[in-house]
Amino acid sequence: MAETDQALPPSDQLAAMNLTDTVEKHAFSNRVLIRSIVGRPDGGAGLAGQRVRAGGWVKTGREQGKGTFAFLELNDGSCPANLQVIVDAGLAVLSKLVATGTCVVVDGILKVPPEGTRQKIELRVEKVVSVGEVDPAKYPIPKTKLTLEFLRDHLHLRARTNTIAAIARIRNALAFATHSFFQEHNFLYVHTPILTTSDCEGAGEMFQVTTLISESEKLEKELIKNPPPSEVDIEAARQVVSERGEAVKQLKAAKASKSEITASVAELNKAKENLSKLEERSKLKPGIPKKDGKIDYTQDFFARQAFLTVSGQLQVETYACAVSNVYTFGPTFRAEHSHTSRHLAEFWMVEPEIAFADLQDDMNCAEAYVKYMCNWLLDKCLDDMQFMAKSYDKGCIDRLRMVASIPFVRISYTEAVELLEEAVKGGKKFENEVKWGIDLASEHERYLTEVKFQKPVIVYNYPKGIKAFYMRLNDDLKTVAAMDVLVPKVGELIGGSQREERYEVIRERILEVGLPLEPYEWYLDLRRYGTVKHCGFGLGFERMILFATGIENIRDVIPFPRYPGRADL
Ligand code: 4AD
Ligand code: MG
Repeated sequence: MAETDQALPPSDQLAAMNLTDTVEKHAFSNRVLIRSIVGRPDGGAGLAGQRVRAGGWVKTGREQGKGTFAFLELNDGSCPANLQVIVDAGLAVLSKLVATGTCVVVDGILKVPPEGTRQKIELRVEKVVSVGEVDPAKYPIPKTKLTLEFLRDHLHLRARTNTIAAIARIRNALAFATHSFFQEHNFLYVHTPILTTSDCEGAGEMFQVTTLISESEKLEKELIKNPPPSEVDIEAARQVVSERGEAVKQLKAAKASKSEITASVAELNKAKENLSKLEERSKLKPGIPKKDGKIDYTQDFFARQAFLTVSGQLQVETYACAVSNVYTFGPTFRAEHSHTSRHLAEFWMVEPEIAFADLQDDMNCAEAYVKYMCNWLLDKCLDDMQFMAKSYDKGCIDRLRMVASIPFVRISYTEAVELLEEAVKGGKKFENEVKWGIDLASEHERYLTEVKFQKPVIVYNYPKGIKAFYMRLNDDLKTVAAMDVLVPKVGELIGGSQREERYEVIRERILEVGLPLEPYEWYLDLRRYGTVKHCGFGLGFERMILFATGIENIRDVIPFPRYPGRADL
């Protein structure tokens, strides 16, 4: 701010600043963000006449006027729009600037382009500061329109495309919205472990974490290089020990000098040490350690079996039952062999947990949170959402508006099954049979939310037989207080429940589903001591992005997708 401004009262300072219309350099890099130029309501026109440094990657470039100058569309990822840059031939070898993917940093003056051009502002270059060249014959993603499938084979470069960059900004915005929503409602962000020894969902879909395999490979190699001692070697070492022992005995009997005896005892100890080392090495066996025919996990890193977490819920409950409102937001892992467009082996989950709250509260929280995210995108990411609407899903912005404004439908599982049965009677064909007791398949969920109601639907009170042990048993003893939020485009977005807080009931449920009690004793303690009514849910973060953007495949909304057969980078 100019010195004279400081004499002004605060409101006048603000007015003076708005008039000055300067574009600020980025705080931690020597250039202005392209967003701070073209992302303004006036498209940057008000900045005409200013000198700026800009940097970015060329989206498209072309030489013009018989090679006297070049137009470059420059993008630095700060917003979907590009900055148009004009470079005269005297400033650089133009052919080295125009290839898609080239990185350039330029100084220049912002100018209003001639009438009739799309841009509101362009940068007339005075100096080319640096160039990161691209050989267009070799650059793997030279064209602008490439299929998302093709881009999955170039994960390290795909963020250079408009689509993946827009998804990255939307993903970032939704993460920010998530923290903002829960912080505004006084939830504490708790980091739950990634490495775990408990199976939350009890579905046996966990990735095991072990060092037994790498340790055994290391040992195998070492034993080849340095074979273990033979029985003969050990016998020889034993012989040495007994000879040295004899020598000590004789010196003592002969009342030899103290120093002679000490030296001899030292020799004996050395021989003993050597023997025990050899004996120790002779026990080393190649392969995974076993005990009673089973793998001996007491020799594993954690001295027990460990896994990557499928959900932070059980651990976050310990904090909910102490500090009342909490959430965790982290990566979760499932070794499901599902080759669907809705499943990943590594995905991110947002899991709030609320004490003193029941299933109704849970549904209210889930609905408010989803609506909050929709509003956030409409407020903060409209340019990226417009890009999505133009390129992938015409209806995506209307969908956000609709979901943000209308109440979600709430029906019981029993009602949902009745509606599906009615649909079957009316001629609707499902691949999976519909009857009370089935786990709703994706086709059923999508029928309810996309065809029947055409809005988000919360289905609650599922049969206990298809749900996890921790869900609260309803008074009918047949259903549990579970709820799933189904949304168009995706199907299941959220799974949650009121938790079983009654010690005797949950103990029975654990046994009923065939799980051992011992590993859950700590979880039972939460019910033994100061138990509290509580509930929570998990939102699949990538599914939220699918729902928001209309992108078809979940592999395209996470930077580094992991699925059966693929874990690139
Ligand atoms: O319904 P799920 O399995 O619920 C739980 O894990 C609970 N412990 C959550 C809780 O109550 N705290 O998973 C929650 C959500 C699903 O609704 C779905 O959106 C997403 O996680 N999800 C997946 N997303 C991508 N790939 C997968 N393989 C997924 N599995 C579940
Ligand atoms: Mg579920």
